[in-house]
Amino acid sequence: MLNTKKAKMILDKDYKIGEVDKRLYGSFIEHLGRAVYGGIYEPGHPKADEMGFRKDVMELVKELNVPIIRYPGGNFVSGYNWEDGVGPIEKRPRRTELAWGTIETNQIGTNEFAHWAKKVNSEVMMAVNLGTRGADAARNLVEYCNHPSGTYWSDLRRSHGYENTHNIKVWCLGNEMDGPWQICHKTAEEYGRLACETAKVMKWVDPTIELVACGSSSIHMPTFGQWEATVLEHTYEHVDYISLHQYYGNHEKDTANFLGKTMDLDAFIKSVIATADYVKAKKRSKKTINLSFDEWNVWFHSNEADRKIKRWSIAPPQLEDVYDFQDALLVGGMLITFLKHADRVKMACLAQLVNVIAPIMTSNGGGAWRQTIFYPFAHVSAYGRGVVLNPVIFSPVYDSKDYTDVPILQAAAVFNEEKEELTIFALNKDVQDLLSFECDVRHFEGYRVIEHIVLEKDDVYAVNTEANPFNVVPNKNGNAEITEGKLTANLSKLSWNVIRLAK
Ligand code: AHR
Repeated sequence: MLNTKKAKMILDKDYKIGEVDKRLYGSFIEHLGRAVYGGIYEPGHPKADEMGFRKDVMELVKELNVPIIRYPGGNFVSGYNWEDGVGPIEKRPRRTELAWGTIETNQIGTNEFAHWAKKVNSEVMMAVNLGTRGADAARNLVEYCNHPSGTYWSDLRRSHGYENTHNIKVWCLGNEMDGPWQICHKTAEEYGRLACETAKVMKWVDPTIELVACGSSSIHMPTFGQWEATVLEHTYEHVDYISLHQYYGNHEKDTANFLGKTMDLDAFIKSVIATADYVKAKKRSKKTINLSFDEWNVWFHSNEADRKIKRWSIAPPQLEDVYDFQDALLVGGMLITFLKHADRVKMACLAQLVNVIAPIMTSNGGGAWRQTIFYPFAHVSAYGRGVVLNPVIFSPVYDSKDYTDVPILQAAAVFNEEKEELTIFALNKDVQDLLSFECDVRHFEGYRVIEHIVLEKDDVYAVNTEANPFNVVPNKNGNAEITEGKLTANLSKLSWNVIRLAK
């Protein structure tokens, strides 16, 4: 007889981790590959609007419901002159783009992007160049974007046809400055000093903005830990967030180990919180620095293909990972990990949004479709708004190549008091067996299951393509039900589950 694996979760309305900041569901558009040109913007495409933005892409972005989008990079920003991208389009320079070895035509810049972001109901998270440039260019950009009128840069914006300010609230002080690949990479001391002085003048121009200092490019950087401590020693009183970036790959095609990587992510977040609080203690500060996880995703499928791309191409197909079913599971697991730290991780950006390691793909002149990873993101963005509850979870565990005691069940619950809805996100990481799931919901009297969405597929390598865009899609066949305050469900092997309860 089969010995079914069992996991249990206990929820209490009053046990809370914290309110979800909607900016946890942010994303990222970089001037890289076909993210901008051929992604969000393709003049002449049958579905392009009067400015050249693809309406089919806009619809999919709106479906993901991303409240904030980081722009314009990424590695790109460390060599970018923002002035190249404003003013009459025909006069904008073409530049060699050193981060990715392409030609940047500057057909899209700050104003067009801010316009597009508004159309998809999103705010811009603007990154400034602290590679080749510094405080002067950064403060001018804040003035150009946020100052109403009557000064050189604000009047220049108005003369470019943008009477109203863009009112950009969140600004990143450079990008991955700890990485030797970065244009004008810096030591923690060098970057810390520069970020501090840049932060000061940016806030003097507009005191309402929030600033993100660069943390490590991944937990595996040799300078990780010391980098955060040094940077925050310099910037603590002038910034609001420290950034984290992390991408995972599955080169070894080891599903169990791949799904275990959420353990690594969890450790990363905990260490950055500890480091930020260490600096807080040292400085006897009353202020708490929160976390902006402003680049995260799976990224490895396209590495080989990218090596073959011809240098100095315009908008070549770079970083076009085609995501499989198991990638979607890890993305779901990463989202659950962020929810677990909702008290400190206030912003996060799925990197990226269109074509470049993205949930949305397009073909030039053709269609737009949803990759497998689109679904868990869309689910959590739609139903993960409210308060994250602090659950007690009992789950069997497994060991993999790099991790021990990985819980088979990874789950989080978000309570939306206003809508009287409770949503449980649950991942069964078992590669073989279904998991019998039980959740104590006795504090949610009168609630019933309104939907149990499941993303499951026998073939972990299954993908969505333009020719077969609906190969991996969620179904509503989950069997969750409630009897006497107890929710039960069978979670099929390797499945992503969204169990929605409402009054
Ligand atoms: O998102 C792709 C790249 O990954 C970004 O440009 C960079 O910041 C990171 O290394």
